[in-house]
Amino acid sequence: MRRKAPLIALLAALSAPTLVTATHLTDSLLNKVYNVMNEISSASWENGTRAQAILESKYPDLSVFAQKAPLPLSSDMSSGSIPEIIDIAQTTMENRPASSNNTASFNGSTLLEDGAAGDPASLGITVLIANATTNNQQVNGVGYGAAATAELNYLLNSVPKAPNGAISHRTDQAQLWSDSVYMVPPFLAYYGVMHNNQSLLQEAYQQCSLYRDTLRQDSGLWAHILLGTGTHDPGLWATGNGWAMMGMLRVYATIKWSQYADDMSSQTNDLADWVQEIFKASQQYITSDSLFHNYLDDTSSFKDTSSVALYAATGFRLSQLNITDAYTPNATALLGAASSYVNSTGYLTQVVNPYDFSKQGGESAEGQSFMVMAYAAYKEWDSLGRKGVNTKDDPLGESSSAPARFGTGVGAGALALVLGVLGWTLV
Ligand SMILES: *[C@@H]1O[C@H](CO)[C@@H](O)[C@H](O)[C@H]1NC(C)=O
Ligand SMILES: *[C@@H]1O[C@H](CO)[C@@H](O)[C@H](O)[C@H]1NC(C)=O
Ligand SMILES: *[C@@H]1O[C@H](CO)[C@@H](O)[C@H](O)[C@H]1NC(C)=O
Ligand SMILES: *[C@@H]1O[C@H](CO)[C@@H](O)[C@H](O)[C@H]1NC(C)=O
Ligand SMILES: *[C@@H]1O[C@H](CO)[C@@H](O)[C@H](O)[C@H]1NC(C)=O
Ligand SMILES: *[C@@H]1O[C@H](CO)[C@@H](O)[C@H](O)[C@H]1NC(C)=O
Ligand SMILES: *[C@@H]1O[C@H](CO)[C@@H](O)[C@H](O)[C@H]1NC(C)=O
Ligand SMILES: *[C@@H]1O[C@H](CO)[C@@H](O)[C@H](O)[C@H]1NC(C)=O
Repeated sequence: MRRKAPLIALLAALSAPTLVTATHLTDSLLNKVYNVMNEISSASWENGTRAQAILESKYPDLSVFAQKAPLPLSSDMSSGSIPEIIDIAQTTMENRPASSNNTASFNGSTLLEDGAAGDPASLGITVLIANATTNNQQVNGVGYGAAATAELNYLLNSVPKAPNGAISHRTDQAQLWSDSVYMVPPFLAYYGVMHNNQSLLQEAYQQCSLYRDTLRQDSGLWAHILLGTGTHDPGLWATGNGWAMMGMLRVYATIKWSQYADDMSSQTNDLADWVQEIFKASQQYITSDSLFHNYLDDTSSFKDTSSVALYAATGFRLSQLNITDAYTPNATALLGAASSYVNSTGYLTQVVNPYDFSKQGGESAEGQSFMVMAYAAYKEWDSLGRKGVNTKDDPLGESSSAPARFGTGVGAGALALVLGVLGWTLV
């Protein structure tokens, strides 16, 4: 004789939603995300990006996204108050190639040895902050300030340039990668503010402009890698568009809080427009589950959560900087979706492989940093009254320390029922 009750229970269990589409990470899970970020960051740009994420989340008053960034940074601030930042700066100095002692004859990056000219520059601001707060302490006989200046000169004078003057992302040839907009111009701008050098701020703006002239496609979205030989990627890489947006936004904020803000309003207006141009053109590619494909317009490429977190951070920062609230609804949807891909040990899953941008990977240091940045941006936006989003409910959805996507509760229950029913029907 057939029993109906278990079958009904089975159907109910199977039809219950097993995937949440939006999740608000608890502080304790977000803390795990932060710890994993620190554990798995190893490449130069990963450490540079991590340092920014630490500033924005732990020392928000020191980041250029502060409500009033302390620029130029005051030297009476103590290095003891920012141990994680000093630690990254010191590690960078310890890993600095000895051959870069003689900056005149060395033509590799002076901060770290890397085939990428742009990536080590992502650590430039960290080194400048360490210099300012330790009163130019030395590591292995070289001062933080000297290392930062050598890196600046290297970028301006030694790295190959594209015909239009854009500083190459590579050491061996002139080749432009959208990633570089996050790594290089914010450092040039920060250095300029610290040294009352407006022409460096102008150079930072100019580099964004030159990269855009080369990489921007008719749609407004940016290709990933153009010019030069070898590696090429004309595709609309989602993370690359995110790097470009966030890099330009950091230059925007650096100029805005600087002594040259009034003088450079046309530059900040351009930067704000260029960031929005990318976000606006990307909106049509947000998938029904609020993610992006690795290549925005290529639905055959896998869905990536790393870029999604970076876009979310951008949307909230655009609002916090009073540029526009138009992207905060998208930003909340994107962050809620990315959060549901954080597993119980704090890893953002379903990420593009940071070392092979065409492939899906198991983990991503930059993805961890983007999540930390996105929550830092979300919290500031939240505290300013959630501009652009009209709801009393939590915009990110249910609070979770272990998103149901990874939960064993419903899944195991359904499995037990299936087995039970099979057992029953087989009897
Ligand atoms: C990045 O930071 C980690 C952790 O401090 C360190 O082990 C690694 O050597 C750093 N990478 C570079 C390129 O300096
Ligand atoms: C520096 O560049 C010159 C000319 O391109 C090359 O001959 C030399 O080997 C390079 N030196 C290093 C240390 O890479
Ligand atoms: C680099 O310079 C520092 C300080 O002058 C010195 O301690 C170190 O030995 C130098 N390294 C090389 C390879 O010259
Ligand atoms: C490093 O710090 C010293 C002492 O505060 C300062 O004089 C110098 O300008 C700084 N160098 C850079 C590159 O910021
Ligand atoms: C600004 O920095 C550039 C690049 O280092 C330098 O050539 C220029 O002399 C500096 N200008 C001022 C006013 O310090
Ligand atoms: C944005 O506007 C508000 C209200 O006018 C103001 O209090 C706040 O300081 C502004 N923020 C920025 C970053 O300009
Ligand atoms: C993103 O914003 C656009 C324009 O406001 C809107 O049409 C779309 O539904 C939004 N997507 C999500 C997932 O919020
Ligand atoms: C979370 O994801 C990471 C990276 O893919 C993986 O190593 C780890 O085992 C996962 N944790 C759990 C509890 O599944």
